[in-house]
Amino acid sequence: MEELERLNREVRSCRLCRLASTRKLAVPGEGPEHARIMLIGEAPGYHEDQQGRPFVGAAGQFLESLLARIGLTRRDVFICNVIKCRPPENRAPMPDELELCRPYLIRQLGLVKPEVVITLGRYSMELVFKGSSISKIHGTTRTIDGVTYIPMFHPAAALHQPRYRSLIEADFDRVPDILQELDRRNASPPPPEPAPPEQLSFF
Ligand code: URA
Repeated sequence: MEELERLNREVRSCRLCRLASTRKLAVPGEGPEHARIMLIGEAPGYHEDQQGRPFVGAAGQFLESLLARIGLTRRDVFICNVIKCRPPENRAPMPDELELCRPYLIRQLGLVKPEVVITLGRYSMELVFKGSSISKIHGTTRTIDGVTYIPMFHPAAALHQPRYRSLIEADFDRVPDILQELDRRNASPPPPEPAPPEQLSFF
């Protein structure tokens, strides 16, 4: 936990970009040190900025209801964002802000070592599924270096546009099957070593 706490302290005092001068509190993220699932959103909003915690506003409430559908609470997962400080008026993050903040997220991935990463919305999807369309690939999985990534719509999009609600619910409902499949693969014995070449014997 020490490393994660050190990282949190760095984020809270970060002044690498302009957002440091407009934020109230930076929002490093939170969750168990070795959570099996990491959820990555976009950037803190008003409530997150006030409290220094991720997903505590309306989108967060919806996210908690999605987790409850699959028998989880927010305490079971690691929740963070691509951008650790609120952009003024919740504007879209700027390219240099994304660039400067990315190392924090990469360190979080390296410390938490989640098996499954759920990207919420376009900005976190772009980290892994560059140039993809979320409408086409939401709910699919892609495994890179042993980590399974699942892109999903942002919960806030589902709040504003009801047609996304059933899509994100259906994507979340598949997570237990994905975890079970990973368990099954981890439990199955490794493939046998190839047999050594037969020894030639003259007897
Ligand atoms: N939206 C996000 O992407 N992240 C938060 O923490 C809250 C709302």
